Amino acid sequence: MFPLLTLSLSLATLTHAYIWPSPQLDALEAARFDQLGLDGEQLAGRLNPCDSFVFALDGSGRTNAADWIRTAWSDVATYDASAGTGGLDASIRFGEEQQRPENAGTSASDTFAVVTPTRYIGYADTLALMTTMAIENCGGPVIPFRGGRVDATEANAPGVPQPQQDLSSHTAAFARAGFSQTDMIGLVACGHTFGGVQHSVYPNIVNVLNEPNDADDVADFDSTFVTFDNNVASEYISGTTKNPLVVGFNDTTNSDKRIFGSDGNVTMKSFAQSPSLFASTCSSLFARMLDTVPSGVELTDVITPLPIKPAFVEFSLNNKSLEMAGQVRFWNQTQSQVGTVIMLWDDHLGGTGIETLKFFGTGTYKAGQVSSAWYGFNTSSPNTNKILNLDPVAGVERLRFLVNDQVQDQGGVGFAVQDAYMFSDTSCITLNEPQIGLVVGRLDVAVRTSANLTRLYIETSGSDAFGRVTVTETDITRPAQPVVPNPAYELWSLTVNSTFGFTIGAVVDGEKFSTTLGRSVNTNQWPACPGVLI
Ligand code: HEM
Ligand SMILES: *[C@@H]1O[C@H](CO)[C@@H](O)[C@H](O)[C@H]1NC(C)=O
Ligand SMILES: *[C@@H]1O[C@H](CO)[C@@H](O)[C@H](O)[C@H]1NC(C)=O
Ligand SMILES: *[C@@H]1O[C@H](CO)[C@@H](O)[C@H](O)[C@H]1NC(C)=O
Ligand SMILES: *[C@@H]1O[C@H](CO)[C@@H](O)[C@H](O)[C@H]1NC(C)=O
Ligand SMILES: *[C@@H]1O[C@H](CO)[C@@H](O)[C@H](O)[C@H]1NC(C)=O
Ligand SMILES: *[C@@H]1O[C@H](CO)[C@@H](O)[C@H](O)[C@H]1NC(C)=O
Ligand SMILES: *[C@@H]1O[C@H](CO)[C@@H](O)[C@H](O)[C@H]1NC(C)=O
Repeated sequence: MFPLLTLSLSLATLTHAYIWPSPQLDALEAARFDQLGLDGEQLAGRLNPCDSFVFALDGSGRTNAADWIRTAWSDVATYDASAGTGGLDASIRFGEEQQRPENAGTSASDTFAVVTPTRYIGYADTLALMTTMAIENCGGPVIPFRGGRVDATEANAPGVPQPQQDLSSHTAAFARAGFSQTDMIGLVACGHTFGGVQHSVYPNIVNVLNEPNDADDVADFDSTFVTFDNNVASEYISGTTKNPLVVGFNDTTNSDKRIFGSDGNVTMKSFAQSPSLFASTCSSLFARMLDTVPSGVELTDVITPLPIKPAFVEFSLNNKSLEMAGQVRFWNQTQSQVGTVIMLWDDHLGGTGIETLKFFGTGTYKAGQVSSAWYGFNTSSPNTNKILNLDPVAGVERLRFLVNDQVQDQGGVGFAVQDAYMFSDTSCITLNEPQIGLVVGRLDVAVRTSANLTRLYIETSGSDAFGRVTVTETDITRPAQPVVPNPAYELWSLTVNSTFGFTIGAVVDGEKFSTTLGRSVNTNQWPACPGVLI
């Protein structure tokens, strides 16, 4: 028996998005839904096209998508549901796990070589995201994706099933990880619609093949190993399969044969008969697999695309004038569908500003199948619309957008922005000693005097002993006699050193905020301070 599937898969039907802004959810949403094109994430490009393999020369016979999916499975398969340990926590990035025979091959070392964790998306979330995109972008179903995984600090106990083990060991290993026998059949079939077994890694399972475009001698699990489809099941049921774990020359290692046949072929027959049943089953099994996390880890809600989403909104004080720049994305829309975008903003004095935005560029999701249209604004750039004379006293509290005669403002709350503090471009270099690599600067931050700002600091990113991103806060104190560039703001300053990339943080009305743009002391960007020769 297999469970009745009622999962609704269209993203369009998932309406419970979050209220912007939320730094972590914004980052996850962007990584998931701004894959290529304008503001796309570099990692998504590695899955495009689906037959590419960036970790070796062309013609290796391997694919990126298969590598990510197997890496995720190797990470999850150590889960012990009763102890609440293991699961998707990126412990597979540690050499200790990679060197175990149960993880033979280079999938995990290949994939983690290109993962750079960020403040909001760690190793484990990146692995889950890449796996999700690999499946979705290469013909698979949409997978409901959650974020919030926590990166492990040590290897987990072993436990990844191996082909020479018997059926009862496999059933027990899946049960330990929280998956029933039917789930096991499904999950193995869903995973093994991609990739195959390599001779160099498993010489006792696969012989040298001498096939074109298969330098690594990969014996594929089905005839369409770069795309998701039910051929893994239909070829198995029709008896035409070449799956090396079904018809391998040594029956001891024919684990897929034992697993697929373990319920008398009932599940595999249903998959062979119905591509849509296979897709919906895999969607829910992959989601469960990726959401298998150690106890105590709390995942976010399923991330759905915000139909309209500002990004990179940044204020700065240009000597005395208030500048605002940013972008806004219209997801699953072309420029002609969106048409004219009018931005409205509420100020702190009860007034409203208005400006027509310029089209900025096109982004895409799902390897180009879904487009997004980006519009931009930048008060100080001649390339976007010049919003004249943004009044610093009035400031900007929240944005709304008028599109096709409809106000888009998250159901009335608007898109809240933060003008209580900002970079001031009076920031300057006080000392430049290139011979000893020393540049010292004075960072000026403009603080809105009417705002309830109780702390101001710079945030510098580093990493801990396990490669996880850390953020260090260095406080900026209010000077006794601050410079007052205009009636709304005063300047607070901090001496900062070279090679210093930082964002600026503040506590406003008891809540922590962080600017989106990293600033660095760079002699090309910051002028010399008055009276300083550099
Ligand atoms: C009893 C369970 C399983 C066994 C014994 C098993 C065994 C194997 C073996 C021996 C390989 C060849 C690796 C190589 O040559 O580099 C492989 C590849 C692969 N496995 Fe599994 N597997 C199992 C379950 C799963 C599951 C549950 C998934 C994902 C849901 C999965 C996904 C993959 C993928 C995508 C590949 C291809 C890797 C590539 O081509 O680079 N496997 N598996
Ligand atoms: C994109 O919008 C169209 C309607 O214009 C809808 O049919 C489709 O399902 C949407 N795509 C996604 C991935 O949400
Ligand atoms: C089949 O594989 C098993 C497990 O790897 C191995 O012990 C056995 O010697 C192999 N049998 C033959 C005939 O190669
Ligand atoms: C499952 O189907 C395959 C292919 O038709 C067949 O070879 C095998 O004997 C079947 N297994 C069981 C347990 O019915
Ligand atoms: C900044 O504003 C002050 C006061 O209006 C002015 O004297 C000064 O020239 C301005 N500096 C720059 C770099 O624009
Ligand atoms: C806005 O335009 C100015 C001038 O071209 C540029 O220096 C600045 O980086 C832009 N800001 C953003 C956030 O794009
Ligand atoms: C800048 O460098 C000096 C001397 O190396 C050091 O004492 C100081 O703490 C550094 N400042 C910051 C903000 O890192
Ligand atoms: C400023 O914010 C803090 C923290 O939320 C709050 O306790 C305090 O009452 C606020 N002060 C004013 C004047 O609103």
